[in-house]
Amino acid sequence: MARSSRRQPSWLSLSLSILLLAVFMPAVMAVKKHDFKTCEQSGFCKRNHALADDIASKGRDASPYRLDPNTIRMKNGQVEGTILKTTSDSERIKLPLIVTFLDSGSARIQIDEEKRQRGDIELRHSSKARKERYNEAGSWALTGAGLQPQKLGKFDKGDESTTVTWGPSNQFSATITYAPFGVEFAVNNTKQVVLNERGFMNFEHWRPKIEKPVKEEGKEEETKDEPAVTGEDESTSWDESFGGNTDSKPKGPESIGMDITFPGFSYVYGLAEHASPLSLKETHGGEGNFDQPYRFYNADVFEYELDSPMTLYGSIPFMQAHNKGSTVGVFWLNAAETWVDIVKTKQDSTLGLGGHMDTQTHWVSEAGVMDIFVMLAPTPKALSKKYGELTGYTAMPQMFGIAYHQCRWNYVSDEDVKDVDRKFDKHNIPYDVIWLDLEYTDDKQYFTWDADTFPDPIGMEKQLDEHGRKLVIIIDPHIKNKAGYPIVEELKSKDLAVKNKGLNIYEGWCWPGSSHWIDCFNPAAREWWKSLFLYNKMKGVQSNVWIWNDMNEPSVFNGPEVSMPRDNIHYGNWEHRDVHNINGMTFHNATHHALISRAKGENVRPFVLTRAFFAGSQRIGAMWTGDNQASWGHLAASIPMILTQGVAGFPFAGADVGGFFGNPSKELQTRWYQAGAFYPFFRAHAHIDTRRREPYLLGAPYTEIMAQALRLRYSLLPSWYTAFREAATDGTPIVRAQYYVHPHDEYGFALDDQFYIGSTGLLVKPVTTEGDESVNIYLADDETYYDYNSFKTYRGAGKHITVAAPLEKIPLLMQGGHVFARKDRPRRSSGLMKWDPYTLVVVLGRDGEAEGELYVDDGETYEFEHGAYIHRRFKFEKGGLASQDISASWTPKDNKKKSAYLKTMESVTVEKIIIVNVPKSLESKTEVKVAGDGVKSGTTANLSYHAAGEGNAAWAVIRNPAVMIGADWRIDLEVGGDVKSEL
Ligand code: GLC
Repeated sequence: MARSSRRQPSWLSLSLSILLLAVFMPAVMAVKKHDFKTCEQSGFCKRNHALADDIASKGRDASPYRLDPNTIRMKNGQVEGTILKTTSDSERIKLPLIVTFLDSGSARIQIDEEKRQRGDIELRHSSKARKERYNEAGSWALTGAGLQPQKLGKFDKGDESTTVTWGPSNQFSATITYAPFGVEFAVNNTKQVVLNERGFMNFEHWRPKIEKPVKEEGKEEETKDEPAVTGEDESTSWDESFGGNTDSKPKGPESIGMDITFPGFSYVYGLAEHASPLSLKETHGGEGNFDQPYRFYNADVFEYELDSPMTLYGSIPFMQAHNKGSTVGVFWLNAAETWVDIVKTKQDSTLGLGGHMDTQTHWVSEAGVMDIFVMLAPTPKALSKKYGELTGYTAMPQMFGIAYHQCRWNYVSDEDVKDVDRKFDKHNIPYDVIWLDLEYTDDKQYFTWDADTFPDPIGMEKQLDEHGRKLVIIIDPHIKNKAGYPIVEELKSKDLAVKNKGLNIYEGWCWPGSSHWIDCFNPAAREWWKSLFLYNKMKGVQSNVWIWNDMNEPSVFNGPEVSMPRDNIHYGNWEHRDVHNINGMTFHNATHHALISRAKGENVRPFVLTRAFFAGSQRIGAMWTGDNQASWGHLAASIPMILTQGVAGFPFAGADVGGFFGNPSKELQTRWYQAGAFYPFFRAHAHIDTRRREPYLLGAPYTEIMAQALRLRYSLLPSWYTAFREAATDGTPIVRAQYYVHPHDEYGFALDDQFYIGSTGLLVKPVTTEGDESVNIYLADDETYYDYNSFKTYRGAGKHITVAAPLEKIPLLMQGGHVFARKDRPRRSSGLMKWDPYTLVVVLGRDGEAEGELYVDDGETYEFEHGAYIHRRFKFEKGGLASQDISASWTPKDNKKKSAYLKTMESVTVEKIIIVNVPKSLESKTEVKVAGDGVKSGTTANLSYHAAGEGNAAWAVIRNPAVMIGADWRIDLEVGGDVKSEL
C-alpha cells in the first residue's frame, strides 16, 4: 500500500475512512520530496544559514558571543562560566556554560539560557508548554557510564583564554577563548576539533513578540517580512506554515547553532540515517556534492531517494572525522529537528610546505539546550568505544535474532504461515522467524487477531516451536480510535496519549484510520504498555512470539511532514518539537521492557525491531532501513547505510532483502540474498502488492543458490555471534568498513562496497550490479587473501584483484592470520544447532600464525551476564593450535554459573579443523597430537593433507579431535617449530 497522498484535512470524519484508504492505495510512485522541507523551507535552518553568511562576510569577530572572564571557575572537574550574547539593541543575554572533562577522555560542552532555565518567559496562545529548553535528551540517550568528571591536569586562566589539560599524560587540551567564545581541542598540541572557529554560533534567546497594530479591513495586508525587533529575521519565528499546516510556536524562536571544524581531516562519517555514501559528502553544491545539509527529522519517507541528505526514519547525530593519525568524534545531543552542513576546504600552508584539508561542519537544531560531546581517539575502534561509553553498546541478541527472518506484508492466515513453514522444510532451507504484518489484526486493532484468518494463533506458534522457530508480529504506536476497542478506551481513560496544543487528546490518521498515539515519555504509559504484553492478558501469544515496532517516527498520514504537529504536547509538557527525534526510541524502549516483564522469571532477551531510532537505541534492539525498492540501486545503497549504522554505534541493522516495493527479478533477488547473508540483521520483506517470493518459489537455479547463501549464514552464526559480543562489549561494528580495519590506508577511506565481518578476517564484496560476473576487490595490506571455497590465493597491497562471481558465487575472501568458527551441519533453524559441534577454520598468515576468538552462551537468556558463557582465543603458533580461556574474571557466584554452564557444554566439541596455507612438510603426516583438559594422554586425531593447486593454497583437515569447545587444549602439527607460510 504505497501511501502517496497522506495529507488529509483534519476535519475528515471517520465515515470517510474508506474513501481515505482508497486514496492511500494508488500505484507505487517515487518519494514525494515536496512533503518534506528543504533548509530554505525550515525557518530556523534558513535563519541560521543567513546568520552564518552574514558572519562569514563580516568576519568571525562580529560574533556576538563572549565568555565573561570574571565568571570562569573550576568546580568539581568542570569549568563553569557565563557566555554573554549582545543583541543589536545592546541587551546582554546570559547563557550559562559548563564544560566537563569526562572519565572516558571526552569533553562535554553544555550551554543553556538563564531566562528559560528559570522559566522566566511568557508563552503565547495560552500555551501550557514547558518554559525551559528541553534538557532531558541525555536521560534517553546516555547511559551514565563514562560521564564522571575526570581529574584535570592544568587549569590555566589567562586574559584571553583558559586552557585545560586532561587525559593520560595530559595529552588532551581544551583552549576556551573568550571573545568570541570558542573552544579548541588538541591532542599533544595538534588541533583536532574547534568549536565556533567560523563564528556561526547562534543561540536564539527568548524575547516577547512585539505585536504590530492590527490593520483595519481593506487596508494593506500585514507583511510577514516585517523588520525584526531584534535585528534578526523573525518572519518564521512566531509561526511557520508548511504544506497547509501551521506551527503555532508558543515559545517563539529557540534554535541553536554551532560550527565545528576538524582541522586536517578530509573524511567524515556517521550521521545515520541517510541514503548516502559512507564517506559523507559536502553539502554546498558543486559537482558530486549535495546542495542541502544532512537533515535529522525522523520521518516516514517511503520510497526514499538514493544518494541524498534527506531525512529518513532515524537520527544519530554523531560524526566521526578520520585521518591517518587519529579519529575524533562529535556527538550533538539534541532531539529536535537538526541540520548538518559539511564543507571541505583546502588550507594552504603559509610556509609553502603543502596545505592540508579541513572539514568544516555547521550544526543547527530547532530547540533545546546546546549539549556537545567531543571525543578524541587514535583510531575508529577506540572512538567507537568512547561513544559507547556514553550511549551504551548493542544489546546482545538471542541467537535467532541474527539468523534468517522471513517476512512479507502479509502472510494471510495461520494456515498460510504453517504452509510456508512446511515448505521451507521441504526444500531444506533454514529459517528462524516468520513475521506477521498488519493484517493479522482485527481491523488494525493491535493486541487482537482476525478471527476469520487467524483462528488458532497458538496452534500456529506451536508448529513453529517444534523446530525452534519464532513468530514476530507488528505492533505500532497508533491506537485505533474506535468505540468499544478496549485498548483505546484504556489509553483515553488513563490519560496516556499524546496531546494536541490545546491539551486535548491528539487525533490523526494512520493505518487504522483515526488514531491516538501512546506517549511513551510518560512512565505511567510505559507501565500500562507492559501490562498489555503479559501472557495472561495478550491473547494468542506464547513465548516464541516477539515484536516489530513500526511507524514510530511517528508516522501520521495527515500530519505535517507525515508526522505530528510540533506544538503537540508530551508528558512533562514538552512540545513535540523538543523531543521528535527521540519519540521512536521511547516506544521501542517501552516494548522492550514490556517483553522483559511479560512473565516473572522468564529471563530471556527480548527481540524488538524498530524503524525509528536515536542515539542509544542500540541498547534496545535491531533496526531496518525502511521502505526500499526492488532495484539494483537500493541493493547497492543498503551496504553504505548498514556500514554507517556501525559507525553510528547501532550496528544491528539490515535492509529489506529483495526490496520492499516492486517485484525483483530472479537475479536481483538472488544477489540480494547473497548480500543479505552479510547484513547483521537478515530479513526478507515485501509490500502487500508484490508477488510472493519465498526463496523456494523461484526454481532452479535460483532457489538452490539462495539456499546456499542461507546455509552459509547459518554455518557462520558462531562467528556472527562473536562479532555481536564484541559490539556489545566495546562498540566495534559488526560489519566493518575498509577505513575501520585499515585506518592508515587512505585509499580505502571512501570505499563502501566491500567490508569485513567482525574480527574474522572475512572480506566480502556482494555483487550489486545486474549481469556482473566478477568484482574488483581492493586489498589494503600485504597479507595473503584466500577464496572462501577454493582457497585460491590473492596478494597485492594497495591493489585491486579480480574475483570471479558467477551467479552462484559470493565474492568472499579470508585474510591470512585469522581463526574463525563455524557449525557445518545443515539444520532447519539456529535453535536446532545449539548442541552441534564446531568447525574451526585456521587461515595461516604469512608468518605462519593465526588468531581468532569465539564467544558462546545459551543464545537466549541473561545468564551470560552472570558468568554462563564461553569465551576462547584460538591461537596457532609454533606449529600448533591452542584454545585459551579469555572470559572475564569471576566472582565466586559467577564462577558457579560458569561451571554449571560449562558442564552443560561438555558434549559440544570441535569436529573439524581446517588449516589453510599449510607447508608441504605436512604432506606425509596423517596424525596429530591432542592434549588438554579432559583429553587422555597420547590422544591423536587424523590429519589429511591437500596439496596446493595452481594458484590455490595447500590445506589440511584434522578430523574429530573431539576437544571440548569450553576447555583448554592444544593440537600439535609437529612440523618442526614454526609453520612458515609458503606464499
Ligand atoms: C511500513 C513499513 C513496512 C510495513 C508497512 C505495513 O510501510 O515500513 O515495512 O510492511 O508499513 O505495516
